[in-house]
Amino acid sequence: MDMIAATPQRDAPLRISLLGPVRAWGTAGELELGSGQRKAVLSVLAMRANQLVTKGELVDAVWGETAPASAYGGIHTHISALRKRLEPRWARRSTGEVLVSTGSGYRLALSGCALDVERFRVLRERARERQRGRDVAGELAALDSALELWRGEALDGVSGPHASWQRTRLAELRLGAVERRARLMVNAGARYAVIDELDRLCRSHPLREESHSLLMHALYLADRRGDAIDVFHRLRSATVEQLGTEPGPGPSALYGEILRDDPALRWTRDEPTGPARPIPLAVRSRPDRPRGFTGRGEQVALLRAAAGAVAAGTGGVVRIEGPPGAGKSALLAEGLAETPGCQLAWSVADELGQQVPLHTVLDGLDVTALSPDPRRAALAALARQVEPERLDRDTVAAAVEGAVELVHELCADGPLVVVVDQLQWADPLSLLVLRRLLPATAERPLLVVTASRPALRRELEPLWAAATRATTITLGPRR
Ligand SMILES: Nc1ncnc2c1ncn2[C@@H]1O[C@H](COP(=O)(O)OP(=O)(O)OP(=O)(O)O)[C@@H](O)[C@H]1O
Ligand SMILES: [Mg+2]
Repeated sequence: MDMIAATPQRDAPLRISLLGPVRAWGTAGELELGSGQRKAVLSVLAMRANQLVTKGELVDAVWGETAPASAYGGIHTHISALRKRLEPRWARRSTGEVLVSTGSGYRLALSGCALDVERFRVLRERARERQRGRDVAGELAALDSALELWRGEALDGVSGPHASWQRTRLAELRLGAVERRARLMVNAGARYAVIDELDRLCRSHPLREESHSLLMHALYLADRRGDAIDVFHRLRSATVEQLGTEPGPGPSALYGEILRDDPALRWTRDEPTGPARPIPLAVRSRPDRPRGFTGRGEQVALLRAAAGAVAAGTGGVVRIEGPPGAGKSALLAEGLAETPGCQLAWSVADELGQQVPLHTVLDGLDVTALSPDPRRAALAALARQVEPERLDRDTVAAAVEGAVELVHELCADGPLVVVVDQLQWADPLSLLVLRRLLPATAERPLLVVTASRPALRRELEPLWAAATRATTITLGPRR
């Protein structure tokens, strides 16, 4: 049954491939897709197949924050052109059957495995199932099939922030699959077969701990203990230099074992299989409930009602304002002390963090280079390339897109509450991400709650202009 799910149906009306140059096939053969921008539009629709993508989201995904005034018209032109190819029998003025127009946007109808990215996901999922069932051959076969889907860099040649973010994210997933496959090969005694591949991987990803651990282990087992030790030192210099920290416990423990020729190095090792989705709830620095909290009954009730509503699927925006000491943080801590059924991303912006691009948002979403969640690790890697002194437009746009997309994906996992305290000090890119998230609260189980001092920052104005649905709580000085 799952064999079928992972195989493209040859007679499917439409097949799309994004794991390499973007290509599409209809019943009559390959379709001519046109410019990189048109491919960008198609790939956004394909990645969000069978879901509504609003025109605004398409503009953001294809142009980012630098969209020209003509962007909406451009989307319209691309959609018409795509429709002619995807739906040759489309009757003018109809809403379409494959590329469907709805009032506010478009939806691409695509069967489950007509998209290679989806097949890749299904095969990775299958590999994980086999891993849980300790079926090594089955797991290896699934990983091989998953990796065979790749024909180069994902979304090759496609422009725009959505594509560059997806390239980073998909590359991260692919790397994870390559590493897992190498682990199985090393365990199976096939260490010579993987050393070259792992070495290339480590050289192009000098911070990847798992790749380095695998290479160290394979080299040791191939009687190249000295080379194994060198690999650890290379990893260590890179982490110290670029992250300012020592390598994590995995490679460090392995290094110790290699130094003392620990017999355990001859045993096969395996990662704990864990749950199918190894992604923890994003619970970040929720402050303790304030002691001796009194009053503010109405405001506390409002926050609790908003949390209850999002847990039931209805998002919203709550904005708390008041002078220093008015009790904004205390109110947040009291009103949101419990958010049952919700993931929580809580950050407190600070004055120094303003200099660090995306600091506030990434902190709240628990995005770190060493995160076990590949989406977060990919975003951290991308954000590291955004340098405050030299803001490269494409990298910035891709990182913003990545952060927005991560929130959307978390919302697909379940209701999410995003809290930003001391908003007046949030860095400009975090404000940009928030601005993109506010309209999404109308469609997703997402509650955004902010607290700020009345601030004179210009960057906050567009944020509030986007918050048409915000409920504002104004706190006066505490008596
Ligand atoms: N309703 C309340 N009942 C009891 N104590 C409170 C209440 N609200 C605030 N406080 C106390 O008042 C002090 C200041 O409150 P808080 O830190 O929440 O202010 P703030 O508005 O967040 O200020 P800032 O803008 O500096 O962050 C804290 O010690 C807090 O515990
Ligand atoms: Mg405060």
